[in-house]
Amino acid sequence: MPQPKISIRGLYKIFGADPAMALDLVRGGIGRQELLDGHRHVLALGGIDLDIAAGGIHVVMGLSGSGKSTLVRHINRLIEPTAGEIQIDGADILGLDGRALTDLRRRRVAMVFQRFALLPHRTVAENISYGLSVRGVDRARQTEAASRWITRVGLEGFDDHYPDQLSGGMQQRVGLARALATEPDILLMDEPFGALDPLIRTDMRAMLLGLQAELNKTIVFITHDLDEALAVGSRVSILREGRIEQTGDPEDIVLRPANDHVAEFVEDINRGRVLRVAAIMEPGSEAAGGLQIEADTVLEDAAHRLAAGGAERATVVDGAGQLLGTVRLERILQVMARPAAADN
Ligand SMILES: Nc1ncnc2c1ncn2[C@@H]1O[C@H](COP(=O)(O)OP(=O)(O)O)[C@@H](O)[C@H]1O
Ligand SMILES: [Mg+2]
Repeated sequence: MPQPKISIRGLYKIFGADPAMALDLVRGGIGRQELLDGHRHVLALGGIDLDIAAGGIHVVMGLSGSGKSTLVRHINRLIEPTAGEIQIDGADILGLDGRALTDLRRRRVAMVFQRFALLPHRTVAENISYGLSVRGVDRARQTEAASRWITRVGLEGFDDHYPDQLSGGMQQRVGLARALATEPDILLMDEPFGALDPLIRTDMRAMLLGLQAELNKTIVFITHDLDEALAVGSRVSILREGRIEQTGDPEDIVLRPANDHVAEFVEDINRGRVLRVAAIMEPGSEAAGGLQIEADTVLEDAAHRLAAGGAERATVVDGAGQLLGTVRLERILQVMARPAAADN
């Protein structure tokens, strides 16, 4: 890939009284449980190598305690590593001194938290412009930015409300607007929708994807919810016990799980809503008759279209109508019904 936006190499984080000693034990091959039971240290991250491309939503997904928050908090150095390297735009961030670090957090990397973390005695507008006021931006520009972002996240008319007058979903819209108002290149989102009701969560995902289509930030999105990971991620990394088990696009994860653990995770996923025709079509230059389906159509919709049209095959085209290949209804149903056959 071109230079990654964020590059992480050999990252270890051990919590406890003597992390350096514990790191020697880990490098000597001691297990996570043994380190905890015998030496009272927690191996939170056990050697992470990860490249995050510019302009995508990179999801880190794993169960509670797998190290997701620890990992993401290294990127703005809320947590210092026990060992390893972290670069942003090819430049080391672990060597940054106090001032440069403050600059990184105020201008380049913003964070959205699960529990919103809004300032309770400030209004919606003041919360959103807070980052700009800290930076010394003049009042007029603060006000302009606040009202622009209030509109963008759909909170018109709530400028002067206080956080406790808002629902959870609205509070997180403020959290997102506050982060975006500082115009960062990188947005870190640590289970941002985890505290919200399912329906609201779906709305928030749609809003995030809509904003991202325009803004093209580099987003690191943490979740423990596989459906959410596959819905928002352009890339997905599966984290388990402080190690990355697989990184791939959503289709890779579902169709080609790297090991039994990932396979178990994706077993119950609704494949018809996650996988797209592009992943299972037969590439070629011959059309299959009247029915045309775009390559990014999810399988469930493609199956409906084929069934409704009484067709067994359809021609697959890209967004510009260019011929890409064909897809068979039988194949779609087969992949929707069970793990992809070995012929894939
Ligand atoms: N400050 C800390 N001190 C000791 N252990 C910690 C600390 N922070 C996290 N941990 C431990 O590190 C592991 C990873 O935690 P965390 O990154 O919060 O996981 P996740 O966000 O995936 O739920 C867990 O076992 C957790 O208990
Ligand atoms: Mg966490």
